[in-house]
Amino acid sequence: MITRQQMQELAREHGTPLFIVDHDELRRNIAMFRKYLPRVTPFYAIKSNPMPEIVHTLYEEGASFDVASQPEFEVAVQNIKHMSEAEQKEWIYNRIIYANTIKPMEMLEALDKYRLLVTYDNEEEIKKLKKYSPNSRAILRICVPNKGAVVELSSKFGAFPEECVDLVYKALDAGISVEGLSFHVGSQTTEFENYTIALNLAADIFEQVAKRGYKKMHMLDLGGGYPAPYDESVKPFPVLAEVINKSLNALFPKEVFCLAEPGRFMNATAGTSVARINGRTVRGGKTRYYINDGAYHTYSGIIFDHQHCHVHSFRENAELVECAVFGPTCDALDVISAHEQLPADLQIGDLVYSDNMGAYSHASSTWFNGFPPAKVVHINLKK
Ligand SMILES: Cc1ncc(COP(=O)(O)O)c(C=O)c1O
Repeated sequence: MITRQQMQELAREHGTPLFIVDHDELRRNIAMFRKYLPRVTPFYAIKSNPMPEIVHTLYEEGASFDVASQPEFEVAVQNIKHMSEAEQKEWIYNRIIYANTIKPMEMLEALDKYRLLVTYDNEEEIKKLKKYSPNSRAILRICVPNKGAVVELSSKFGAFPEECVDLVYKALDAGISVEGLSFHVGSQTTEFENYTIALNLAADIFEQVAKRGYKKMHMLDLGGGYPAPYDESVKPFPVLAEVINKSLNALFPKEVFCLAEPGRFMNATAGTSVARINGRTVRGGKTRYYINDGAYHTYSGIIFDHQHCHVHSFRENAELVECAVFGPTCDALDVISAHEQLPADLQIGDLVYSDNMGAYSHASSTWFNGFPPAKVVHINLKK
């Protein structure tokens, strides 16, 4: 894990705002996922942080990939350019899922030759698959409860359970091979029961489809949602893994290939941001700090990902009081935290940092107000 001293040295060397990616942490996270969920193959959700270096490290660790657009597909396949065409095709066939239920027609046409694994959740998408990518292999996404998840996804995606059997058969009638089912319990889910409910719903649909005659579904995609340890309220991963393993083993025979699309779990702890105080004022007895990274930049997860990011000072044993921390732009929306525990007397030029910033942060950074995204530094890359 990166030390506070390393953060300061890197900030002095590279300037701020700085976004540091620790690749040892990526390796640790994928190893932990595999250790506790041995039946589930991780397909890294590239959307959570698409940096090619991150994708490459996970590729080197043997990860598979969840892509949701053609550019994300390209980031993944950059890693296999050394393979022969036949090997590339085989790798894409086995190691990529296009997990966006709504797909652009051009993309479907362009990627049809790979017989891509794709998700769908409605009839119009079946028509598109038939017309533009008849060779794709479909996974039906079910709508499942997202209770307690920080980012709710079921209001936008997933077929209602009562529609599912028909949607499987409609795809089959259209000549599309249906491989299995998927779900997403919502990102940063802390109600582990969501997984139990989703697995039971999926098992029920598997059974109903088989009863009507089609017995070739053999894949179960458990989506993302595995929470990052942002604070002590998040129960440890082995606790969640036990819940999942129990239902999985009770409900699905071992021949069913299980995969998942973890994003945040893989990269949140691998990202640290370091910024500099560019302004300060005291109003109503409260110190306000204005730093050179904010809600339009590395802290964009506050808006897009409902994150609560904490800003820390490097000062040892300082008395902490409630302060406010703002980003650099002219928008009043650019607030990192109105209630942050910090020393009241930090000075202009002092550095501050936030940890657990790897997911949904730099990925949604903008150039608003002319401020570029934070500079990125990778540490512990393998040569
Ligand atoms: C289809 C799909 N899979 C996986 C993910 C990754 O989720 P998480 O970062 O919660 O693991 C998302 C996130 O939005 C998603 O939409």
